[in-house]
Amino acid sequence: MTRRSDFPSDFAWGTATASYQIEGGVADDGRTPSIWDTFTHTPGTVSDGNVGDVADDSYHLWRDDIAVMRELGVNAYRFSISWSRLVTPDGELNPAGVEYYRTLAAELNDRGITPWATLYHWDLPQYLEDADGWLNRATVDAFVHYVELAVQSLGDVIDHWITLNEPWCSAFLGYASGHHAPGRHVGSQAAHAAHHLLLGHGRGVAVIRRLQPEASVGITLNLYSVRAASDSDADRDAARRADGLQNRLFLEPVLTGRYPADVLADLGEEAWFGERTEDLAEIAQPIDFLGINYYSRHTAAAGERDADTSATPSANPGSEFVRFIDTGATKTQMGWEIHPDGLIDVLEQAHAYAPELPLYITENGSAWPDVVQPDGRVDDPERQEYLEQHVAACAAAIGRGLPLRGYFIWTLIDNFEWAWGFSRRFGLAYVDYATQRRTVKSSGTWLAGFLSGALEAP
Ligand code: NOJ
Repeated sequence: MTRRSDFPSDFAWGTATASYQIEGGVADDGRTPSIWDTFTHTPGTVSDGNVGDVADDSYHLWRDDIAVMRELGVNAYRFSISWSRLVTPDGELNPAGVEYYRTLAAELNDRGITPWATLYHWDLPQYLEDADGWLNRATVDAFVHYVELAVQSLGDVIDHWITLNEPWCSAFLGYASGHHAPGRHVGSQAAHAAHHLLLGHGRGVAVIRRLQPEASVGITLNLYSVRAASDSDADRDAARRADGLQNRLFLEPVLTGRYPADVLADLGEEAWFGERTEDLAEIAQPIDFLGINYYSRHTAAAGERDADTSATPSANPGSEFVRFIDTGATKTQMGWEIHPDGLIDVLEQAHAYAPELPLYITENGSAWPDVVQPDGRVDDPERQEYLEQHVAACAAAIGRGLPLRGYFIWTLIDNFEWAWGFSRRFGLAYVDYATQRRTVKSSGTWLAGFLSGALEAP
């Protein structure tokens, strides 16, 4: 049995969201389009044909969001800042954007909920993508300028900063598979985007240190627990590749200042960034914590090297060498295997590189086909069970001596799930998109009970 009292009293118990997924108000008060506005308005990109123009309308209804947080009893809230709401195309602060995030953060502080701001959760201003986006090194300068403005205008109300969310997704889903904005297919050149994102991270950290020395700064990576389907050399090599591209390509430069040589070799000549050794010292700026988004595991087997992959672009250059096996484990509605012990695996993997570094789970959660009962309740026992199991894994990780300092659940309220549109619900609260009413689901009620000390996780 796991209880809240098994965790340190200063443990962060939070929920997470992202600007494009909840805010709406895409043309309000000087916000300019981001790549996600352009992408979702392009037919065929989002499975249910929806766009995030309104989403949860949190640009106007953020007080309702805070009311949900209070009902849950969380003490931290991770949200992201929309770059194109905060900064104009001329590189000036947009006063209305500043006002929105200042008011939100100040209200959170007043309510005893610590604001954690992600600076880049995938919504690049479109005018930067028009100049080649993250493939262009100049985007790094634009990002650094944006970070400077964000910290200058919000540093007195926000002191936890996350530079990037899941740069693997920005680079490889955005520029290799095209499943995410900007929807490009430049294959292993997508690694250039990864390099520029990481350089933006490192330089962003330096800016925050200079302007707000007391702030706590980190980055959020999406890590998978990866294992080989068998002991055969070919399957073990497939696992090495999957772990290399998903996990080590990001962990190692950030935490050790080196790119993994085997991954550079897999990526081949096009991934020229391996030679940019002068950037690596900047990328490896000391950070105060590492954020990890953990959802699932991969079981990797040797792929079919002769397969023609040209018709179905993959997020993973070299994917013809890797097949992900369905082990028969229970899956969420996303098709992701539920594997709570993997949360400990990824914490251990990160910890091995940086034994002193505090770790946070900055996202963990699950999608299910939630249904509103005739009495208005939403019962989601599967989500509750998923949370119970992963909270227990957090306790086990701490028991093993891992420096886990917080756990953020994805997500506060149902929202725009990227290429899945509104067809996937991850929220602790149900959103009726016709009325924008938020209703805490039974999993949220369980969380509130757990956080109040009344309930346990088995
Ligand atoms: C990771 C992303 O950061 C978030 O935006 C997304 O909605 C969740 N995972 C679920 O897919």
